[in-house]
Amino acid sequence: MPTLRLARRDDLGAINDIYNHYVLHSTCTYQTEPSTLEERQAWFEVHGVRHPVTVLEEEGRVIGWGALNKFHPRAAYGHTVENSVYLHHDQQGRGLGSVLLADLMDRAAQLGHHVVIAVIDASQAPSVGLHAKFGFVQCGHFREVGFKFGQWLDVVYMQKVI
Ligand SMILES: CC(C)(COP(=O)(O)OP(=O)(O)OC[C@H]1O[C@@H](n2cnc3c(N)ncnc32)[C@H](O)[C@@H]1OP(=O)(O)O)[C@@H](O)C(=O)NCCC(=O)NCCS
Repeated sequence: MPTLRLARRDDLGAINDIYNHYVLHSTCTYQTEPSTLEERQAWFEVHGVRHPVTVLEEEGRVIGWGALNKFHPRAAYGHTVENSVYLHHDQQGRGLGSVLLADLMDRAAQLGHHVVIAVIDASQAPSVGLHAKFGFVQCGHFREVGFKFGQWLDVVYMQKVI
């Protein structure tokens, strides 16, 4: 079974590789150009103690990562976070998304966050299913707000009040 721990700077290359696969091949992220390592490092630096980044490691290889991201810069949103869960594309369906999300929800509670929000492309059944399994409920559906791979995309927001 993989081990789960906080991410370190030397994980950022693997985190970026996992993410960039989906940038190029999936609508699960609306980013259309791969992130550079420099951009990933800057992203990591703004994730302080209240916004952890985690990794799953197996036999010395990072196979997935999670994060609690600031939802909005205005101060009154300070107890709301948006979550990310990304597995290496050859690691889906092993229950590892659940492992990452369960840990993120524990961390969110321990850090005093009040609401976790998932922003999900509406066609991404695995992600919608994963969050529903953890008690997230749909709280918004935005039609045709994304455009990727030549098609308009709907986004659903799901939230869980801790
Ligand atoms: C979304 C993702 C993290 C799910 O991880 P996973 O390890 O495959 O999911 P799990 O095996 O833990 O499944 C958890 C639940 O998700 C749902 N699920 C998983 N795969 C599914 C699929 N192909 N279709 C529908 N629901 C699915 C099920 O409800 C499942 O519940 P169960 O364990 O009772 O069967 C993974 O598919 C992934 O990394 N996808 C690409 C990145 C992404 O979309 N991230 C989410 C953006 S925040």
